[in-house]
Amino acid sequence: MSDRALLVIVLAAGLGTRMKSQTPKVLHKIAGRTMLEHVLHSASESVAANAKVPAKFCVVTAPNANDTEVAARRVYPAVKIFTQEERLGTAHAVLAAREAIAGFSGDVMVLYGDTPLIEPATLSRLRDELEKGYFLAVLGFHSSNPTGYGRLITNSQGELLEIVEEKEATAEQRAITLCNSGVFCFRSERLLEVLDQIGNDNAKGEYYLTDAVKIAREKALSATVVECDEQEVLGVNSRQELAVAEQIMQTRLRQKAMAGGVTLLSPETVYLSADTQIGRDVLIEPNVIIGPGVKIGDNVIIRGFSHLENAVLHDDVQIGPFARLRPGTELRQGVKVGNFVEIKNAEVCEGAKISHLSYIGDAHVGAEANIGAGTITCNYDGFNKHPTEIGAGAFIGSNSALVAPVTIGEGAYIGSGSVITKDVPPAALSLTRTPQIDRPGWADKFRAIHKAGHDRKKA
Ligand code: UD1
Ligand code: CA
Repeated sequence: MSDRALLVIVLAAGLGTRMKSQTPKVLHKIAGRTMLEHVLHSASESVAANAKVPAKFCVVTAPNANDTEVAARRVYPAVKIFTQEERLGTAHAVLAAREAIAGFSGDVMVLYGDTPLIEPATLSRLRDELEKGYFLAVLGFHSSNPTGYGRLITNSQGELLEIVEEKEATAEQRAITLCNSGVFCFRSERLLEVLDQIGNDNAKGEYYLTDAVKIAREKALSATVVECDEQEVLGVNSRQELAVAEQIMQTRLRQKAMAGGVTLLSPETVYLSADTQIGRDVLIEPNVIIGPGVKIGDNVIIRGFSHLENAVLHDDVQIGPFARLRPGTELRQGVKVGNFVEIKNAEVCEGAKISHLSYIGDAHVGAEANIGAGTITCNYDGFNKHPTEIGAGAFIGSNSALVAPVTIGEGAYIGSGSVITKDVPPAALSLTRTPQIDRPGWADKFRAIHKAGHDRKKA
């Protein structure tokens, strides 16, 4: 494993025209995380595998790419952003980060922001290859359909001689199936000298990073190829490719979850996020969507058709079917949330039950409280959100409306169908029902009168 310092440069100045979007291409999401963040995470995990090594991260963006910068800083607050003023090719993009390369000694890794499936272990493998004394190593892959990719020209010793872009390639070269993924690793020493010699006298009039190979060899600096699976370096240029990448990523996340002790009854119907954390002996039924920011403990059961985002589920929790956990939900140990229950910004304490048809928002529900069917926290008055506090062991009768701000004391009972607008003292019974009226025999008389009317009409 390399113990040299690492400089990672992610190229993200692409226009992404084929996405037909207002959003920069690298900010489109896969498993709830932007493609740029996937690439940065992968690079940083590859570094973390060798914690001794200091690493610096740079992202090259198009002008005015503020959102891109924000996304990059979520992964690496200290990331350096360089702007490529004009899009003149991959070598030109790398040179936008000249300042970072100039003051650096170690390995320089170049990645594309639109290649979100690249795995940390592959990046480590690429980098380790430089240990053998090469000036550069490129990540290559065999493709049954190499059209459009640069081809890797190697000799019988497996050394890389040059990379020829599709537009420059001879028919013979086009028949080569070993392609350039675009991921490079260089020794920093003499890198600027090589990059500065790259010209733009070619079919596209661009400064090709791939020309670095030939120029390096002319300086007796050797190059090599590390192979990986084609799938891993899939570049996303369209919504169709985005969908393909999403499926590949979902398959990986499902495999990882199952390997970690999660039972998925129908894996292909469960959608996970890149940051989903799940414990052991968790059961997830079909058709569940787990959005970003979800943490699930051990022995949790998530029944079918549930939807979760930014929620924490402690051990032994059960939710669903058809539960909706919105941001800010925290379900403590042993909580039970049943069908058609929506929870938002609420902490539900140990052993509490919300079994049927409820909305609990901006609330704190004490331990062992029982929230009856159809209970609604009326948290919003059209302008502001207000809190509801439900004490431990409280029993909320079915179809109650708790008009916030309001506090239900510990162990209190709320009569079914109540509209509670004032605080309820601990251990009290509160109800807001109009008294029941009983009229003996009324129903029979009512039916008799109406039946007589109908019979007359028919006659
Ligand atoms: C590039 C490679 C090709 C390789 C292919 C893999 C070159 C010359 N060619 O071709 O060998 O097989 O990728 O997908 O490097 N970018 C910038 N600024 C620029 C130009 C590009 O930031 O001025 C970024 C793009 O956003 C993109 C990446 O660099 O993420 C690749 O650029 P692109 O123009 O798509 O290169 P290809 O022609 O596909
Ligand atoms: Ca491309």
